[in-house]
Amino acid sequence: MHHSLIMTKWGWTQFMILYLMVSGRRSLVTVHQPPVLTSALGHAVMLPCELILPPDEKLLNPPVLYWDHLKGDDARLWPRSEKYKNRVNLTDNNPNSLNKSILLKNAQWADSGKYLCKLSIVTRGEKSRKFGNKTLLMVYDTMSFKLTNDSLLSCEVNVTQDPSLVLSIFHDGSKLPTVCSARQDAAAALPYASLSESVSVRSGGKYECRLHLNAYLITKRSFNYDPPEPDKGRDAERNVTVTSSTTVPGAAMLVFPEPWVLYSGLLLVPITILLGIITVQLTCRH
Ligand SMILES: *[C@@H]1O[C@H](CO)[C@@H](O)[C@H](O)[C@H]1NC(C)=O
Ligand SMILES: *[C@@H]1O[C@H](CO)[C@@H](O)[C@H](O)[C@H]1NC(C)=O
Ligand SMILES: *[C@@H]1O[C@H](CO)[C@@H](O)[C@H](O)[C@H]1NC(C)=O
Ligand SMILES: *[C@@H]1O[C@H](CO)[C@@H](O)[C@H](O)[C@H]1NC(C)=O
Repeated sequence: MHHSLIMTKWGWTQFMILYLMVSGRRSLVTVHQPPVLTSALGHAVMLPCELILPPDEKLLNPPVLYWDHLKGDDARLWPRSEKYKNRVNLTDNNPNSLNKSILLKNAQWADSGKYLCKLSIVTRGEKSRKFGNKTLLMVYDTMSFKLTNDSLLSCEVNVTQDPSLVLSIFHDGSKLPTVCSARQDAAAALPYASLSESVSVRSGGKYECRLHLNAYLITKRSFNYDPPEPDKGRDAERNVTVTSSTTVPGAAMLVFPEPWVLYSGLLLVPITILLGIITVQLTCRH
């Protein structure tokens, strides 16, 4: 019983090693492509593709490369078709290189979509065609980020039609609630979607509009907002006080009471003396 258990364990380990050696060799020749890429409109974009061989494996012939844009009518980038004649280059021209990345120049809306890297390989163990996992290319245009009126800051960008591309606006690092948000891709004539996002500006500081693809930041644009200067407000107040003090009629009237009091005072003196004399004269008559 004890003995047979040890034997079983030993047998299992041997089997696993054998299994990994046989199956491992087959699955270890792989073609790697990133799942998603973005490119600015009109710019060049590198579509990476790499052949990975196990350390003990060797290519008997240079791999034969094919790059396809998967659309309704598949378009071949490499070997260069007429359509891509002047727009694509290999990044490494050595035929034995395992780096099969391709450079696509002047990215256009029509270049949006999936790209497949295929390699025909011959090794000691196999002769087969290997496929990458496809790369989805998305294109975006220049972002605009400006005040549309005194209180509304709007961000706009045209992008490849895809729901995973999202705009958001941040102020000093925290995300702001949207006042209005729009995604126009209903117009079938346009090969892109127009994203727009607006926030109301409340305080000064750095506002930032960001285009995200899921968690990845693709592009951003900043806007520094200076609220109207407090100095100007004080000037306006000063103008108001200046105007009010010159137009209040009472101010001119108030200058005069003092002399009137003086004049009345001066008049009171002779009147008092006169009254005194009259009083004296009247009392003397008695
Ligand atoms: C390709 O995709 C499959 C299925 O999603 C995954 O199992 C495999 O690891 C991927 N291969 C590479 C090279 O990324
Ligand atoms: C392939 O070549 C390009 C251009 O030299 C380089 O940018 C890229 O990093 C290379 N890829 C790998 C996987 O080495
Ligand atoms: C700014 O535009 C928004 C939306 O169009 C509007 O509701 C708001 O009244 C405008 N504000 C000013 C100060 O014009
Ligand atoms: C203040 O009044 C002066 C003279 O009337 C005027 O030129 C100036 O623009 C005013 N300032 C403000 C802030 O209204």
